[in-house]
Amino acid sequence: MRFPIIAGNWKMNTTVTEAIELVGQLRKGISSAFSVEVVVCPPFVSLAAVKEALKGTSIKLGAQNLHFEDKGAYTGEVSPLMVADLCEVIIIGHSERRQYFGETGEIVNKKIGAALRAGLKPILCIGEKLEDNEAGRTAEVVTEQLRSSLAGIDVFADLVVAYEPIWAIGTGKAAHGKPVNETAALIRRILTELSNQETADSIRILYGGSVTAENIAEFLEQSEIDGALVGGASLKADQFISMVEQAEYIYFPNNPPTKDLIPW
Ligand code: PGA
Repeated sequence: MRFPIIAGNWKMNTTVTEAIELVGQLRKGISSAFSVEVVVCPPFVSLAAVKEALKGTSIKLGAQNLHFEDKGAYTGEVSPLMVADLCEVIIIGHSERRQYFGETGEIVNKKIGAALRAGLKPILCIGEKLEDNEAGRTAEVVTEQLRSSLAGIDVFADLVVAYEPIWAIGTGKAAHGKPVNETAALIRRILTELSNQETADSIRILYGGSVTAENIAEFLEQSEIDGALVGGASLKADQFISMVEQAEYIYFPNNPPTKDLIPW
């Protein structure tokens, strides 16, 4: 079985103080008895403090980006070794990196390779623009992004793929469960071609794009979707805790959370 993941991408939000405060609130609601894998990805400058604040919880720590070289004269960059010293997880190829920082498929591919060499678990983000979606090119774009990101990589079961349609990110206009499930099924078919059935069946595929406590169930109930990558709503502790609880409840109905679900 695939263990679901609820991951929070804090993006360029929270000072170190605010990050510690947020973790303090999350600690109260996210039990280490939960089977759902919970990940938070704060900004680089907060990683060390958040790592400390997460001690004693089962919440995993991730970063949002890395450089593909291990070290050197790359002013302002952070290397895979530095990230791996603090974190387990790394978000790679987020559409905001592709859009605002010129990350191409080739760069994403190098970053995936670098992350793996450093022992990090990548969450590879892919997703189409609005015009591609409207022109019916979603499958084509997603296929191309997967192939270029994973070219030459030995595709492995620990990989996580986040399907995040760009038009749904930060817009409040989330996609819908059924079409996302179809795209997730396509992603799994391509992963099968790039590896084998067993590996592809083990890879977790997340949905991301305006996920909230109010709409997450629609995605989690789909057979091919194994969790969510949450941006804005992951900054609100009650929302994030509720999403984790709902995931626990949906994926492990016989092992319900010890306290009542926060109603949404
Ligand atoms: P959002 O962001 O939940 O704020 O839409 C998702 C993401 O970019 O990962």
